[in-house]
This record gives sequence, structure tokens and C-alpha cells, in this order.
Amino acid sequence: MAKAKTQFVCQNCGTVHSRWAGKCDGCGEWNTIVEEDPMGGIGSGPGKMPKKGRPVTLTSLSGEIEEAPRIPTGMGELDRATGGGFVRGSAVLIGGDPGIGKSTLLMQAAAALARRGHRIIYVSGEEAVAQVRLRAQRLGAADTDVLLAAETNVEDILATISEGKRPDLVIIDSIQTLWSDTADSAPGTVTQVRTGVQAMIRFAKQTGATMVLVGHVTKEGQIAGPRVVEHMVDAVLYFEGDRGHHYRILRTVKNRFGPTDEIGVFEMSDKGLREVANPSELFLGERNEKAPGAAVFAGMEGTRPVLVEVQALVAATSLGTPRRAVVGWDSSRLAMILAVLEAHCGVRLGQHDVYLNVAGGYRISEPAADMAIASALVSSLAGLALPADCVYFGEVSLSGAVRPVAHTAQRLKEAEKLGFSAAVLPAASPDLPKGSQGKWREVDSLPDLVARIAGSRLKAPTDQEDG
Ligand code: TYD
Ligand code: MG
Repeated sequence: MAKAKTQFVCQNCGTVHSRWAGKCDGCGEWNTIVEEDPMGGIGSGPGKMPKKGRPVTLTSLSGEIEEAPRIPTGMGELDRATGGGFVRGSAVLIGGDPGIGKSTLLMQAAAALARRGHRIIYVSGEEAVAQVRLRAQRLGAADTDVLLAAETNVEDILATISEGKRPDLVIIDSIQTLWSDTADSAPGTVTQVRTGVQAMIRFAKQTGATMVLVGHVTKEGQIAGPRVVEHMVDAVLYFEGDRGHHYRILRTVKNRFGPTDEIGVFEMSDKGLREVANPSELFLGERNEKAPGAAVFAGMEGTRPVLVEVQALVAATSLGTPRRAVVGWDSSRLAMILAVLEAHCGVRLGQHDVYLNVAGGYRISEPAADMAIASALVSSLAGLALPADCVYFGEVSLSGAVRPVAHTAQRLKEAEKLGFSAAVLPAASPDLPKGSQGKWREVDSLPDLVARIAGSRLKAPTDQEDG
């Protein structure tokens, strides 16, 4: 027999190379290429498929549609993120940094489901049975009927979960520890993880059990190595949060059975995760209303409005190159706002350090935050506090124009509910509620906003601008 041919696969993007290289051509990453056996994975080569194909019945687009049968956990925030509960027969990937709380979240979900009479199997590949038991005790879940196994071999796991009554939900914690006899590569490589995940997904589809897979995420925010896994599963949720803060966000990035962009918000405690039904109250909790440099942004997370405070500090620099530090927002977006302020509003920031922080460790990804960020920056530079009862939102373009954003009515409603009586928003916002116009101040450009906040204070180009 000819020598088994191996291939070289990038562990980051999955690109196949014919020989080893230090840098992957596909994604530009260094040191990610590993030698693997292409015949190793389940169904990954013609050599392993002796079975002859069997025709399936073709059908039409119209016809009966069945609602996906779901298993709600009763944990409102988790059900919100999954779109109403775990779908039977589907595979869900939960990604997140190590230590962020994935195992805790899933143990709580497992316990909640077991209490509702479902058969739940928790397979831990990272922790010993005693450790998982200890966590269950701490979470007050030890008295539930969750079935536990500490195992990493794919064939053994499949044999275990296939035995006896069909489980409703199986949790595999984590996919990086899975290894299969059929794949020759080392555990944690793309081939091993893909083989393991494929086998688990096949089990889910065949039996109707829900498969929840835990995956660690690298610093760059990719599910370590196997990005390939993301497209294999039906839903991908990220569990994220700042280590220094006590709350966590479960974010849906893909969902074949429900909406994406939904978030579930949890607060950490020594007894586990607590649900936060109204995140705005949490993010606005420690607000200092009289301090310059703080603006409340009326944002959206999926279908839910979220109010959060952005804080800016603009201070004269003692360095040759001023510092720009951002937490919770995109730093290139900050650079853009600073450039627009300089170019179109006469606000000089070249001699100032700029620090920007989103309160509570929350991360904003919406461009609609531009106006709030700009307001906070101008307020800090001018040394003038913004009105405490006002929210800000709107997208800023490079020309300095302010563009309308979606969901105006919902943002305003949430603001009103939390006691904000005013808003600064883009002119010509399409779904502005009629009748309440007086309280909403529409601006059509960034210079207009700067003039409203600081008057002509920041205009004089030769002045020292420290408010
Ligand atoms: P863990 O669930 O093990 O994180 P992951 O599975 O993502 O690696 O949680 C990490 C640590 O944080 C663990 O020591 C328990 C602790 N923790 C709490 O004390 N309270 C909480 O609410 C959460 C979520 C975690
Ligand atoms: Mg864990």
C-alpha cells in the first residue's frame, strides 16, 4: 500500500496546504499549520465511504410547516437568547473565554431542565466528577437528576448517551477535549474537533436530542481553532463579559431557528448566575450625573433597547503622541469621531489624551453610539456636564453629517420608561413618534451638536482648550 498521504491544515481558518509553512496564506496567521491525516475524519474521504447512495424523495417549497419543537429552560434570559428554548434535535455551540462562566451557565440550565422532568446528560471533559459535583452543590443543583460523566472519547460518549432512554439534552463541555479513535491527529486539532462535533451533531439529528457544545474562544474572539465548527451547528451563542465586572452577556450570533442579535444578561454571584431582566437599570446603576464627559446612549440589542453610559476623559497630554485608550468600543471608530471633530467642528484634540469607557464593562457594537461618544468627548473637553435627563443616539458620517438609525421609537420609549425626558437624535429620523416632538432635539450635523453642548467655547483655535 502506498504511504498514507498527510496534509497540512491551518488550525485557524482550515485552509489546506500541501507542505508545512510558518504562515498561512489563507488567513495570514503564524504557526497555525499542523500536519493531519485527511482520511482521518468521519466521512472525510472517498476511501471511507463504501456505502452506495440511496435516492431521497424530492419535495416542494410549499406545504406544511411545523414549528420547531422547543425545550424551554425557564431561565428567561437563556430562552430569550436561544429564541424560546433549545430546539429538539439541534446542535448549539456556546463559545466564550475560559473562566467566563460557561460551565456554570450550563449546569444551571441542566438543573432547571432536570427539575422540569427532562433527561439531561452532562459530559465533562475538563473537570473531574468531584469538581462538577462541587459546582452543582454551590449552585444548589446537586439535588436534581442531571446525569454526569467525565469522558473525552467520542465513541465512549456516543455509547454512553445512546444507552437507555433517549436524553432530551446532552451537554459536551468542551469540544476542545473531544478525541476520536477514527482521527489520527492530536486532540484539539481541527480534524479531531470536527470529527467529534460531527459525530455529536449526527447523534442529535438521529435521536432528536439537543446537543449543547461548549467551545473555548481565543483572545481574538474566534472559537479556538475550529471556526469550522460554527457553520456545522444550528446556533452559535457567545458568553462574554469583562473579568473585572460581575455581569455576563449571552449573545446570539447565529440561529437557524430564531432571531440573531438577541442577548441574555446575567449577573454573577457566589450562588451562580442571576438573570437580569432589565439591563438598562444595571448599566446605569452607578451613574454620576453631574460629571462632565458622561453621556447616556440609547442602544438596541436585538429586539431589546439597552441604555448605557459612555464616559470620556479628554485631558492635556504630556506626551509627544497623545494617548487614545478605549474600553467597550471600537478604537478605529473613536479615531474616526476624533477626526470628524477636528476637521468639521474646529475641536482640537491633537494635544489631548483621550480615554473612553463604556460603563459596567459592556461592549457597544452599534454605529448609532457615535453621537453619544461625540457628546461625551465634547462635554469632557469643555468641562460642561451634559443634562442628566437626556439620551443620545445617531450615526456620524465622515462628512460630519448625522444619519438616522433604526428603532427610534423603541429607543425613546425605553428612555422615557427610565425617567429620561429628553433626547438628542438625528434630524429626519423616520419612525419618530408623533406628538412628543418637543422633547426631542434633532441635530443634522456634528458641528450643530458641538455648538449645542459647548456653545462657542471650543471654537477658538489658538486658545488653550482645557475647559
Ligand atoms: P466556569 O463556569 O468554570 O467558567 P468556564 O466554564 O467558562 O471556564 O466559571 C469560572 C469561575 O467563576 C468558577 O471558579 C466559578 C466562578 N463563578 C462564580 O463564582 N459565580 C458565577 O455566577 C459564575 C458564572 C462563575
Ligand atoms: Mg468550564
